[in-house]
Amino acid sequence: MPETDRVKMSLPLLMEKKRKKQKITMITSYTYWQAFLVDKAGIDIVLVGDSLSMTELGNATTLPVSMDTMVAHAAAVTRGCKYGFVIGDMPYMTYQPSNEIAIKNAGRFMAESGCDAIKLEGGITMAERMRAIVEAGIPAMGHLGLTPQSMSALGGFKAQGKDALMAKRIVDDAAALEEAGAFAILLECVPSKVSKLVTERAKIPIISIGAGPDCDGQLLIFHDMFNMYPAFMPKFAKRYGDVAKVISDGLANYVEQVHSGAFPEPQHQFTISEEQYRELLEMVSNQ
Ligand code: KIV
Repeated sequence: MPETDRVKMSLPLLMEKKRKKQKITMITSYTYWQAFLVDKAGIDIVLVGDSLSMTELGNATTLPVSMDTMVAHAAAVTRGCKYGFVIGDMPYMTYQPSNEIAIKNAGRFMAESGCDAIKLEGGITMAERMRAIVEAGIPAMGHLGLTPQSMSALGGFKAQGKDALMAKRIVDDAAALEEAGAFAILLECVPSKVSKLVTERAKIPIISIGAGPDCDGQLLIFHDMFNMYPAFMPKFAKRYGDVAKVISDGLANYVEQVHSGAFPEPQHQFTISEEQYRELLEMVSNQ
């Protein structure tokens, strides 16, 4: 789409995409430059995920990342994003304790980072938080299935809803979040047939990350797409490029060129006139 025809993504436009069965694209970004590239590619939704705790900060889980860190990254992303709808991911224990704490932190995310909405994890048990945040005037997305903040309770990074009872729970959780006012729901690592059922029953967009092709949209983690997270590659992720190889090759070349003297070349250097240099030599020789 030519830049001049493009408008900023909004909640009504996302709902329209759901109604018209037009697929929604969503990618994570944590920095200004990532957001700038993602926005240029025409992505609909940009998630400042708390996965940055792992992909950018090197933690083993999403739990340690703070509200301060998330707000700083989200602000960088909104500076890089002109058209994409930016969602800030509420970090661990910034909404679970009470409605009041949830509204305060969600409001801070919106006011200090300029993001368009927030996301929180959890189903029926978090429906009350969802309602409180939405009633405070803050658009909120739900997140079901594999919810990384509950990784310990879920027993690790593994698919959810693989038996009828657990799948039914996901269907009920999605209905509860929609009823509480969520504008969309992310389904992570859920069997495709279960996601299809949830998507067909929902009036709001259902986005998949490892939840199959029948959802209203797809999310991938930027770092998984471009081989930028060395710790592991989830089963649902697809590689669209190898940034790690480009950077590693460049770094090896740099080390080799510094050792051999091939870098820096004349065009990387600054000069002083012969006259000024002679004057300098005279000055230092008299010291
Ligand atoms: O933090 C994140 O990037 C997420 C995705 C894994 C869904 O929540």
